[in-house]
Amino acid sequence: MSVQVTLGEGGTPLLHAPRLSERFGVDLWLKWEGANPTGSFKDRGMAVAVTRAVEDGAHTLVCASTGNTAASCAAYAARAGLRAVIVVAKGAAAGPKLLQVQAVGGEIVEVDGSFSDAFAHAEDLGSRAGHAIVNSTNPHRIEGQKTAAFEILERLGGPPDVLTLPYGGGGNTRAYALGFGDRLPRFHPVQVADRAHTVASAIRIVEPVHAAEVEDVVRRSGGSVVTVDDDAIVAARNLLGREEGLFCEPASAAGIAALDRSARPGERVVCVVTGHGLKDPA
Ligand code: F0G
Repeated sequence: MSVQVTLGEGGTPLLHAPRLSERFGVDLWLKWEGANPTGSFKDRGMAVAVTRAVEDGAHTLVCASTGNTAASCAAYAARAGLRAVIVVAKGAAAGPKLLQVQAVGGEIVEVDGSFSDAFAHAEDLGSRAGHAIVNSTNPHRIEGQKTAAFEILERLGGPPDVLTLPYGGGGNTRAYALGFGDRLPRFHPVQVADRAHTVASAIRIVEPVHAAEVEDVVRRSGGSVVTVDDDAIVAARNLLGREEGLFCEPASAAGIAALDRSARPGERVVCVVTGHGLKDPA
Protein backbone atom coordinates (compact mmCIF):
# COMPACT_ATOMS: atom_id res chain seq x y z
CA MET A 1 0.00 0.00 0.00
CA SER A 2 1.45 3.32 -1.02
CA VAL A 3 0.94 6.56 0.85
CA GLN A 4 -0.96 9.25 -1.01
CA VAL A 5 0.79 12.59 -1.11
CA THR A 6 -1.94 15.21 -0.79
CA LEU A 7 -2.56 18.78 0.34
CA GLY A 8 -6.31 18.56 -0.22
CA GLU A 9 -6.31 19.43 -3.93
CA GLY A 10 -9.36 19.22 -6.21
CA GLY A 11 -13.04 19.52 -5.36
CA THR A 12 -12.90 23.16 -6.44
CA PRO A 13 -16.02 25.30 -6.90
CA LEU A 14 -17.91 25.37 -10.19
CA LEU A 15 -19.51 28.79 -9.90
CA HIS A 16 -22.40 30.05 -11.97
CA ALA A 17 -21.61 33.52 -13.38
CA PRO A 18 -24.90 35.39 -13.66
CA ARG A 19 -23.59 38.81 -14.72
CA LEU A 20 -21.16 37.55 -17.32
CA SER A 21 -23.82 35.10 -18.58
CA GLU A 22 -26.11 38.02 -19.26
CA ARG A 23 -23.37 40.11 -20.82
CA PHE A 24 -22.32 37.38 -23.27
CA GLY A 25 -25.75 35.81 -23.80
CA VAL A 26 -24.65 32.38 -22.61
CA ASP A 27 -25.01 30.16 -19.52
CA LEU A 28 -21.54 30.64 -18.07
CA TRP A 29 -19.87 28.57 -15.33
CA LEU A 30 -16.43 29.18 -13.84
CA LYS A 31 -14.25 26.27 -12.71
CA TRP A 32 -12.28 28.08 -10.00
CA GLU A 33 -8.91 26.37 -9.85
CA GLY A 34 -7.34 29.18 -7.84
CA ALA A 35 -9.00 27.45 -4.88
CA ASN A 36 -6.41 24.64 -4.96
CA PRO A 37 -3.80 24.43 -2.14
CA THR A 38 -1.02 26.33 -3.94
CA GLY A 39 -3.47 28.43 -5.93
CA SER A 40 -3.52 26.69 -9.32
CA PHE A 41 -4.80 23.59 -11.13
CA LYS A 42 -1.31 22.12 -11.12
CA ASP A 43 -1.92 20.61 -7.66
CA ARG A 44 -4.32 18.00 -9.06
CA GLY A 45 -1.63 16.45 -11.23
CA MET A 46 1.21 17.06 -8.82
CA ALA A 47 -0.48 15.00 -6.11
CA VAL A 48 -0.53 11.97 -8.42
CA ALA A 49 2.91 12.53 -9.96
CA VAL A 50 4.60 12.95 -6.56
CA THR A 51 2.78 9.96 -5.09
CA ARG A 52 4.13 7.87 -8.00
CA ALA A 53 7.62 9.37 -7.66
CA VAL A 54 7.70 8.31 -4.00
CA GLU A 55 6.62 4.78 -4.98
CA ASP A 56 9.42 4.69 -7.54
CA GLY A 57 11.95 5.64 -4.88
CA ALA A 58 12.83 9.12 -6.15
CA HIS A 59 14.62 11.51 -3.78
CA THR A 60 14.48 14.63 -5.98
CA LEU A 61 11.72 16.18 -8.09
CA VAL A 62 12.64 18.32 -11.08
CA CYS A 63 10.53 20.61 -13.23
CA ALA A 64 10.83 23.52 -15.63
CA SER A 65 8.18 26.13 -15.01
CA THR A 66 6.77 29.56 -15.65
CA GLY A 67 5.92 29.54 -11.91
CA ASN A 68 2.81 27.56 -11.02
CA THR A 69 4.20 24.09 -11.64
CA ALA A 70 7.18 25.30 -9.61
CA ALA A 71 5.09 26.35 -6.62
CA SER A 72 3.12 23.11 -6.74
CA CYS A 73 6.16 20.86 -7.21
CA ALA A 74 7.99 22.45 -4.29
CA ALA A 75 4.99 22.18 -1.97
CA TYR A 76 4.27 18.51 -2.73
CA ALA A 77 7.99 17.72 -2.49
CA ALA A 78 8.06 19.23 1.00
CA ARG A 79 4.94 17.27 1.89
CA ALA A 80 6.61 14.04 0.76
CA GLY A 81 10.00 14.80 2.28
CA LEU A 82 11.72 15.08 -1.10
CA ARG A 83 14.04 17.68 -2.62
CA ALA A 84 12.63 19.95 -5.35
CA VAL A 85 14.78 21.53 -8.06
CA ILE A 86 12.94 24.11 -10.11
CA VAL A 87 14.31 25.40 -13.42
CA VAL A 88 13.05 28.78 -14.61
CA ALA A 89 13.99 31.14 -17.42
CA LYS A 90 15.69 34.10 -15.76
CA GLY A 91 13.24 36.91 -14.99
CA ALA A 92 10.29 35.01 -16.48
CA ALA A 93 8.35 33.77 -13.44
CA ALA A 94 6.16 36.07 -11.37
CA GLY A 95 7.76 36.99 -8.03
CA PRO A 96 5.04 35.61 -5.73
CA LYS A 97 5.35 32.17 -7.35
CA LEU A 98 9.08 32.08 -6.62
CA LEU A 99 8.35 33.18 -3.04
CA GLN A 100 5.97 30.22 -2.79
CA VAL A 101 8.79 27.91 -3.88
CA GLN A 102 11.24 29.34 -1.36
CA ALA A 103 8.73 29.29 1.48
CA VAL A 104 8.51 25.49 1.26
CA GLY A 105 12.21 24.92 0.70
CA GLY A 106 12.40 24.43 -3.09
CA GLU A 107 15.66 25.18 -4.90
CA ILE A 108 15.53 27.52 -7.88
CA VAL A 109 17.90 27.25 -10.86
CA GLU A 110 17.76 30.13 -13.34
CA VAL A 111 18.83 29.66 -16.94
CA ASP A 112 19.48 32.31 -19.55
CA GLY A 113 16.96 31.84 -22.32
CA SER A 114 13.36 30.81 -22.88
CA PHE A 115 11.01 28.29 -21.28
CA SER A 116 12.20 25.74 -23.87
CA ASP A 117 15.77 26.20 -22.66
CA ALA A 118 14.62 25.72 -19.06
CA PHE A 119 12.70 22.59 -20.11
CA ALA A 120 15.77 21.10 -21.85
CA HIS A 121 17.85 21.72 -18.73
CA ALA A 122 15.19 20.13 -16.50
CA GLU A 123 15.05 17.03 -18.72
CA ASP A 124 18.80 16.75 -18.40
CA LEU A 125 18.72 17.00 -14.59
CA GLY A 126 15.68 14.74 -14.36
CA SER A 127 17.31 11.89 -16.27
CA ARG A 128 19.68 11.22 -13.34
CA ALA A 129 19.11 8.31 -10.97
CA GLY A 130 16.68 9.10 -8.15
CA HIS A 131 15.28 12.14 -9.98
CA ALA A 132 11.70 12.42 -11.30
CA ILE A 133 10.49 14.99 -13.81
CA VAL A 134 7.07 16.34 -12.90
CA ASN A 135 6.30 18.50 -15.93
CA SER A 136 3.11 17.76 -17.87
CA THR A 137 5.10 15.33 -20.03
CA ASN A 138 4.82 13.07 -16.94
CA PRO A 139 1.59 11.10 -17.68
CA HIS A 140 0.62 11.03 -13.99
CA ARG A 141 0.20 14.82 -14.12
CA ILE A 142 -2.40 14.47 -16.89
CA GLU A 143 -4.17 11.67 -15.02
CA GLY A 144 -4.50 13.88 -11.94
CA GLN A 145 -5.64 16.94 -13.83
CA LYS A 146 -8.41 15.05 -15.64
CA THR A 147 -10.35 14.92 -12.35
CA ALA A 148 -11.51 18.50 -12.97
CA ALA A 149 -13.58 17.22 -15.90
CA PHE A 150 -15.12 14.52 -13.66
CA GLU A 151 -16.18 17.23 -11.21
CA ILE A 152 -17.83 19.24 -14.00
CA LEU A 153 -19.70 16.17 -15.32
CA GLU A 154 -20.89 15.38 -11.82
CA ARG A 155 -21.99 18.90 -10.98
CA LEU A 156 -23.75 19.68 -14.28
CA GLY A 157 -25.07 16.15 -14.80
CA GLY A 158 -23.27 15.96 -18.16
CA PRO A 159 -20.82 17.88 -20.31
CA PRO A 160 -21.34 21.58 -21.12
CA ASP A 161 -21.65 22.66 -24.77
CA VAL A 162 -18.33 24.49 -24.69
CA LEU A 163 -15.13 24.37 -22.65
CA THR A 164 -12.65 27.27 -22.75
CA LEU A 165 -9.28 27.33 -21.02
CA PRO A 166 -5.86 28.94 -21.38
CA TYR A 167 -3.45 27.18 -23.75
CA GLY A 168 0.20 27.28 -22.69
CA GLY A 169 1.92 23.95 -23.27
CA GLY A 170 -1.42 22.21 -23.80
CA GLY A 171 -1.21 19.64 -21.01
CA ASN A 172 -4.39 20.81 -19.34
CA THR A 173 -6.33 20.63 -22.63
CA ARG A 174 -5.21 17.01 -22.95
CA ALA A 175 -6.20 16.33 -19.34
CA TYR A 176 -9.75 17.69 -19.73
CA ALA A 177 -10.21 15.74 -22.98
CA LEU A 178 -9.14 12.57 -21.18
CA GLY A 179 -11.54 13.31 -18.33
CA PHE A 180 -14.56 13.98 -20.57
CA GLY A 181 -13.80 10.81 -22.56
CA ASP A 182 -16.46 10.18 -25.20
CA ARG A 183 -18.56 13.09 -23.89
CA LEU A 184 -16.38 15.93 -25.20
CA PRO A 185 -17.72 19.49 -25.10
CA ARG A 186 -16.55 21.77 -27.93
CA PHE A 187 -12.99 22.68 -26.92
CA HIS A 188 -11.69 26.22 -27.37
CA PRO A 189 -8.17 26.43 -25.94
CA VAL A 190 -7.11 30.08 -25.85
CA GLN A 191 -3.59 31.22 -26.63
CA VAL A 192 -2.00 34.66 -26.68
CA ALA A 193 -0.90 36.21 -29.96
CA ASP A 194 2.60 37.03 -28.77
CA ARG A 195 3.55 33.91 -26.83
CA ALA A 196 7.14 35.11 -26.30
CA HIS A 197 6.30 38.44 -24.65
CA THR A 198 2.78 38.21 -23.27
CA VAL A 199 1.80 39.88 -19.99
CA ALA A 200 0.31 36.48 -19.08
CA SER A 201 3.61 35.13 -17.70
CA ALA A 202 2.16 31.69 -16.91
CA ILE A 203 1.68 30.94 -20.62
CA ARG A 204 4.83 32.61 -21.96
CA ILE A 205 5.72 29.46 -23.88
CA VAL A 206 6.71 29.71 -27.54
CA GLU A 207 6.68 26.00 -28.38
CA PRO A 208 3.72 24.12 -26.81
CA VAL A 209 4.93 20.60 -26.09
CA HIS A 210 1.42 19.11 -26.53
CA ALA A 211 0.52 21.02 -29.73
CA ALA A 212 -0.29 17.93 -31.83
CA GLU A 213 -2.60 16.50 -29.13
CA VAL A 214 -4.33 19.86 -28.68
CA GLU A 215 -5.00 20.01 -32.43
CA ASP A 216 -6.45 16.51 -32.23
CA VAL A 217 -8.77 17.38 -29.31
CA VAL A 218 -9.94 20.53 -31.06
CA ARG A 219 -10.70 18.63 -34.27
CA ARG A 220 -12.48 15.74 -32.54
CA SER A 221 -14.62 18.13 -30.49
CA GLY A 222 -15.52 20.47 -33.37
CA GLY A 223 -13.84 23.42 -31.66
CA SER A 224 -10.92 25.70 -32.45
CA VAL A 225 -7.87 27.29 -30.91
CA VAL A 226 -8.67 30.98 -30.31
CA THR A 227 -5.93 33.61 -30.26
CA VAL A 228 -6.30 36.79 -28.19
CA ASP A 229 -4.00 39.74 -27.49
CA ASP A 230 -2.73 41.05 -24.16
CA ASP A 231 -5.26 43.90 -24.02
CA ALA A 232 -8.09 41.38 -24.21
CA ILE A 233 -6.47 39.28 -21.45
CA VAL A 234 -6.15 42.23 -19.10
CA ALA A 235 -9.68 43.44 -19.85
CA ALA A 236 -11.04 39.94 -19.16
CA ARG A 237 -9.08 39.68 -15.90
CA ASN A 238 -10.59 42.97 -14.73
CA LEU A 239 -14.07 42.04 -15.91
CA LEU A 240 -14.01 38.74 -14.03
CA GLY A 241 -12.98 40.57 -10.87
CA ARG A 242 -15.51 43.35 -11.06
CA GLU A 243 -18.49 41.38 -12.36
CA GLU A 244 -18.09 38.10 -10.50
CA GLY A 245 -15.65 38.78 -7.65
CA LEU A 246 -12.97 36.36 -8.81
CA PHE A 247 -9.38 37.66 -8.78
CA CYS A 248 -7.36 35.48 -11.15
CA GLU A 249 -3.96 35.83 -12.72
CA PRO A 250 -3.84 37.24 -16.28
CA ALA A 251 -3.28 33.87 -18.03
CA SER A 252 -6.30 32.46 -16.25
CA ALA A 253 -8.65 34.99 -17.83
CA ALA A 254 -7.87 33.76 -21.35
CA GLY A 255 -11.11 31.78 -21.60
CA ILE A 256 -13.15 34.86 -20.71
CA ALA A 257 -11.20 36.95 -23.25
CA ALA A 258 -12.26 34.54 -25.98
CA LEU A 259 -15.92 34.07 -24.99
CA ASP A 260 -17.36 36.17 -27.80
CA ARG A 261 -15.47 34.03 -30.31
CA SER A 262 -16.06 30.58 -28.86
CA ALA A 263 -19.64 30.42 -27.56
CA ARG A 264 -22.94 30.79 -29.44
CA PRO A 265 -26.03 32.41 -27.89
CA GLY A 266 -27.65 30.31 -25.17
CA GLU A 267 -24.92 27.72 -24.95
CA ARG A 268 -23.74 26.33 -21.63
CA VAL A 269 -20.07 27.23 -21.27
CA VAL A 270 -17.51 26.20 -18.67
CA CYS A 271 -14.52 28.51 -18.45
CA VAL A 272 -11.55 27.12 -16.54
CA VAL A 273 -10.03 29.86 -14.37
CA THR A 274 -6.66 28.25 -13.76
CA GLY A 275 -4.85 30.28 -11.09
CA HIS A 276 -5.18 32.84 -8.30
CA GLY A 277 -4.64 36.56 -8.87
CA LEU A 278 -2.29 36.89 -5.90
CA LYS A 279 0.25 34.87 -7.89
CA ASP A 280 0.79 37.44 -10.63
CA PRO A 281 -0.77 40.70 -9.45
CA ALA A 282 1.40 43.18 -11.36
N1 F0G B 1 -2.96 28.80 -16.56
C1 F0G B 1 -1.99 28.90 -15.65
C2 F0G B 1 -2.25 29.74 -14.45
C3 F0G B 1 -0.76 28.23 -15.84
O1 F0G B 1 0.20 28.33 -14.92
C4 F0G B 1 -0.56 27.46 -17.01
C5 F0G B 1 0.70 26.76 -17.24
C6 F0G B 1 -1.61 27.39 -17.94
C7 F0G B 1 -2.79 28.07 -17.68
C8 F0G B 1 -1.48 26.64 -19.20
O2 F0G B 1 -1.67 25.27 -19.03
O3 F0G B 1 0.42 24.53 -20.13
O4 F0G B 1 -1.38 22.92 -19.53
O5 F0G B 1 -1.68 24.54 -21.41
N2 F0G B 1 1.71 26.87 -16.48
C9 F0G B 1 2.94 26.06 -16.59
C10 F0G B 1 3.83 26.28 -15.39
C11 F0G B 1 3.61 26.18 -17.89
O6 F0G B 1 5.06 26.10 -15.50
O7 F0G B 1 3.33 26.63 -14.33
P1 F0G B 1 -1.06 24.25 -20.09
